[in-house]
Amino acid sequence: MKKVILNNGTEIPEIGFGTWQTTESVQKTIKIALEAGYTHIDTADIYGNEEEIGEAIAESGVDRKELFLTTKVWNSNRSSEGVKQSLEQSLKKLKTDYLDLLLIHWPANAKQFNNWKEINAETWKAMEEAYKSGVVKAIGVSNFMLPQLQALLETSDVIPAVNQIEFHPGHVQHEVVEFCKEEGIAIEAWSPLGSGRLLKDEELNGIAEKYNVSPAILCIQFALQSGVIVLPKSENPENIKSNLHFERFKISDSDMKALKNLKETGFSGLNPETVDF
Ligand code: A2P
Repeated sequence: MKKVILNNGTEIPEIGFGTWQTTESVQKTIKIALEAGYTHIDTADIYGNEEEIGEAIAESGVDRKELFLTTKVWNSNRSSEGVKQSLEQSLKKLKTDYLDLLLIHWPANAKQFNNWKEINAETWKAMEEAYKSGVVKAIGVSNFMLPQLQALLETSDVIPAVNQIEFHPGHVQHEVVEFCKEEGIAIEAWSPLGSGRLLKDEELNGIAEKYNVSPAILCIQFALQSGVIVLPKSENPENIKSNLHFERFKISDSDMKALKNLKETGFSGLNPETVDF
């Protein structure tokens, strides 16, 4: 599996297994994913599935060192103490003594709090402490847009290794992606298939046909070709396998452009600058 080198030298597999809103037994799905060869799993405290994931990994017998595990600190744990407790709980549930990557799940935004900058800075300080302790191999953020990132970089000691954002054809968040590239922050795509909404898009299907691939594979290749780490999610064993093992191909520049500019059929509607949770 091809890996991307993060800004602190940590290597991360370019395709990870997303686990948000998995409705089937996550334990079963994770076992299928591990058997299929996934070595990168993305979860979060709020997904409520860390315990099952920990169980599935333990039962699989896969060497922990072969895996790249990411989890995220939820919004109720933005204080210094909150981050510490959240990390402890996640480690326990995942049955591990370290994490490969820990992310702040959502930034505090200006619509929610007057002191949003201070809140994010405090959370980040605690993330930096976790990183410096060695229990977390890399730290990053999720859903940070330009204002939140710029403010964070003003007070941070460690530059985030990653910003995990919604990214898929028709929703490529050009401004924040370009900023992250300049700052050496890797982008990870959540909902790379628009949570499945994109798979029926007529224009996208037309482009997929040209390359003789499914719309899902086109979306995954689109992310990879955009230099983005991609976290597709599936509960179907065949899809789980093919999302990892498809033959890489090259999308032409004009089709990349068309995919970037696709109408927003896949967008979740969640704007990190205005969400209220
Ligand atoms: P399924 O579980 O039946 O595979 P996202 O990763 O953007 O959140 O999208 C997840 C959705 O995309 C799920 O509904 C999943 O359904 C579907 N999906 C994932 N991979 C494929 C694939 N290779 N072909 C078709 N649908 C897929």
